[in-house]
Amino acid sequence: MLSKSDLISRAGQAGIVPVLTIEDPAQAVPLAKALCSGGLDVLEVTLRTEAGLEAIKAIADSDIDCVIGAGTILSIADVEAAASFGAQFLVTPGTPTSLVSTLQAFEGVVIPGISTVGEAMTLADAGFDVLKFFPAEPAGGAPFLKGLGGPLPDLRFMPTGGIKQDTMDAYLKLNNVVAVGGSWIATNSDIEAGDWDGITAKARSANRVARALA
Ligand code: 3PG
Repeated sequence: MLSKSDLISRAGQAGIVPVLTIEDPAQAVPLAKALCSGGLDVLEVTLRTEAGLEAIKAIADSDIDCVIGAGTILSIADVEAAASFGAQFLVTPGTPTSLVSTLQAFEGVVIPGISTVGEAMTLADAGFDVLKFFPAEPAGGAPFLKGLGGPLPDLRFMPTGGIKQDTMDAYLKLNNVVAVGGSWIATNSDIEAGDWDGITAKARSANRVARALA
């Protein structure tokens, strides 16, 4: 069972958590290998496609040494499905109160989404202290998270949404950021094209920058 401290430590070393939208489950294992070869071994597969759950299972059942999570968790049914297909962590874009008790009961790690101070406080009360900040760039970017560090110093964040190689530094420099997430490392077209070498190169370059800032 993945512990929160393991997730924080592995995501922190990677610096970037690729957010992956997979159309064909056969792409999942080569994609995960390509990312791990580039130093990014904490992966979030979104449930935005039919193939998402099978992709999670393929990676979870493989011998790749990575941590696999499910993103775009919107409902109780998504939580149950992600758990049964082997997701070790769950990420929500936002967190309605109707989902909180189901998320609390999940055995792995949950990174629930917020975009306001009040939502962050509500989730802290519910026992969550690692939160996704989404959509990070339009919702206030790194300055917003820096501001939250004053009144809410015990919370840590994984910002995603609009972050790219040239904007990630501002987040990674903050001590309340565990890692940044994003789809730029392996875009839908990179995945469709099966450009595994290109994905490894982008992963390696992003990981190098993150390590230099750690
Ligand atoms: C997510 O679900 O976290 C986002 O879609 C990732 O955002 P990005 O595609 O802008 O990187």
